[in-house]
Amino acid sequence: MMFADKVALVAGAGGGMGLNIANDLLGEGAHVCLADIKPRPADIRGGPGKSTYCQGDLSDGGFVRSTVEQTVADFGRLDYLVNTVGVLWFGRDLSLVEVDLETWDRVLDINLKAVVLTTRHAIPQMKAGGGGAIVHFSSTQALRGDVAAQDAYAASKGAILALSKSIAIQFAGDGIRSNAILPSATLSPMQERWQGKEAEIGASIPIGRVGTTQDQSNACLFLLSDKASFITGAELVVDGGATASV
Ligand SMILES: NC(=O)c1ccc[n+]([C@@H]2O[C@H](COP(=O)([O-])OP(=O)(O)OC[C@H]3O[C@@H](n4cnc5c(N)ncnc54)[C@H](O)[C@@H]3O)[C@@H](O)[C@H]2O)c1
Repeated sequence: MMFADKVALVAGAGGGMGLNIANDLLGEGAHVCLADIKPRPADIRGGPGKSTYCQGDLSDGGFVRSTVEQTVADFGRLDYLVNTVGVLWFGRDLSLVEVDLETWDRVLDINLKAVVLTTRHAIPQMKAGGGGAIVHFSSTQALRGDVAAQDAYAASKGAILALSKSIAIQFAGDGIRSNAILPSATLSPMQERWQGKEAEIGASIPIGRVGTTQDQSNACLFLLSDKASFITGAELVVDGGATASV
């Protein structure tokens, strides 16, 4: 098992990619705290790693602090942090000239500040344990503009790339790596609107299909693992070739 007795916090693990990643880590022997604003999902894998579930708002500093503290109290250390937490609010997140600024602030709070909070509280624990690895989920949206502007989402995902590199440089000497994954079209609760349209969307992607949460989890576990021990501050596009063809 690749992660036997390691400890991970997956922020945004109530469904989608985060839940898939948490389940794969549990299967590889890691103990995992799954955190999300949603209630506990029924399909958390039973082991061999142990799991806990913390329900709350990851943009709330008090909740994040207590979640990290509880994880270390439960499992004794913290080795990995995965930030999949995020929202994409179709029809509400618009061009910067149209968007309601409360929506703007809330998207930035969830997509960016939550990442700052989880990382801020995780790093001292990783330092205490002699190192760690962090994977943040950005988006290929950070690499290009969008004719249907969702400016708060795009800005938050661009900021994650800069932040991940800064974390990588600041804490490399502590044995902590930080990398970003940039998914594009991936079937998950966030993209419910694509149900039944998978073939149509997949036809526009060079590999010929939409992504799955398993595709993203495979990339994430690689970046967390020691197989990626010389990779930090990097951006891994996981998009079936969509970006390469633009
Ligand atoms: N699915 C895609 O096509 C796609 C493409 C590019 C990037 N991404 C990014 O990948 C990441 C994972 O996306 P996903 O497709 O699994 O979506 P998802 O909606 O299934 O997962 C996001 C999770 O974040 C949680 N969350 C939202 N607000 C929260 C809050 N305030 N506090 C705690 N939890 C909160 C949600 O409840 C949800 O479980 C996201 O950051 C997303 O922006 C997704």
